Amino acid sequence: MRAVLLALAGQCAVFMQSAAAQSSAAIAPVMSSTTPVTVAANDPATSPGTLRPNTMAARVAACTACHGEQGRAGADGYYPRLAGKPQDYLYQQLLHFRDGDRIYRPMTHLLAPLPDAYLYEIAGYFAAQHAPYPPPARGPASSTLLERGRVLTQQGDPARDVPACVACHGAKLSGLSPAIPGLLGLPRDYIGAQIGSWRGDLRRAAAPDCMAEVSKRLTPEDVAAVAAWLSSLPVTEPYVPETADSLTLPLVCGSQTYPVPVAGGAK
Ligand code: HEC
Ligand code: HEC
Repeated sequence: MRAVLLALAGQCAVFMQSAAAQSSAAIAPVMSSTTPVTVAANDPATSPGTLRPNTMAARVAACTACHGEQGRAGADGYYPRLAGKPQDYLYQQLLHFRDGDRIYRPMTHLLAPLPDAYLYEIAGYFAAQHAPYPPPARGPASSTLLERGRVLTQQGDPARDVPACVACHGAKLSGLSPAIPGLLGLPRDYIGAQIGSWRGDLRRAAAPDCMAEVSKRLTPEDVAAVAAWLSSLPVTEPYVPETADSLTLPLVCGSQTYPVPVAGGAK
């Protein structure tokens, strides 16, 4: 997996140069609504002529250069999907990247000048996108590994105090409003890398960070198993988060009660 991630990091650097070159122009219109919008020349969805200036779609062109049209995910499996994820979840991730609780420099650079209320608006834009989900890309995985992933996902491991993933992410793994994301439609490497980041304190969420606690109770083999199992499942529509408070969580999650900017209010 390390080799894969390093290779992807290399590609990212290349991508970054084009994204950074256009970033200030694409994101800046929030500050100055008369600035002309520059869009990514290498992405047909955002090529000049298809975007109306000063629409949100134009403002987030620097984002969709990596995250794909409508935020439906990048082509190579590492740039995660944004479309349809809960607004409060996406918003908190933007704060985390901006403020250094999640580390990915190209995004930190883009987000640094943006105020909370605008990040909440960007999160709302991507949460409202309904792009189709591609079929799962199933890699090699033994039936033993997949079965272990299934059991951990659905039942956890009470002997080791590992809660079931469905206890928070919902019985259909479609997430829980307002801020717990679904776990389907994510690439295997992405799932493994995120849990690995929590285990190594490189990804943090609002305190108490329940997902960090869960991640630290998992062994590397558990992580490989849940990543293989979850990424093998198709997304069946309607794929929407369960309503807030419909589950009693096994641990307290600070992200579920995190304050969001008031509509229209400056923050
Ligand atoms: C250079 C490529 C690139 C650009 C440009 C970029 N992103 Fe990202 N984004 C990534 C990568 C890679 C990750 C996953 C990082 C990690 O491993 O945590 C990510 C993660 C995210 C996440 C977290 C998703 C999740 O499910 O937790 C959000 C939200 C996000 N990006 C939004 C944005 C927005 C909004 C913009 C534009 C302002 C943007 N990104 C620009 C590459 C990019
Ligand atoms: C106690 C509740 C809880 C349990 C149990 C739980 N999670 Fe989570 N999970 C969360 C929360 C809350 C978040 C969002 C954290 C944030 O804001 O970054 C999250 C986020 C994630 C993410 C990041 C998704 C993305 O798009 O980046 C992954 C992957 C994940 N969980 C996997 C799992 C797996 C696998 C299990 C079972 C072994 C599990 N979770 C069990 C609460 C939980």
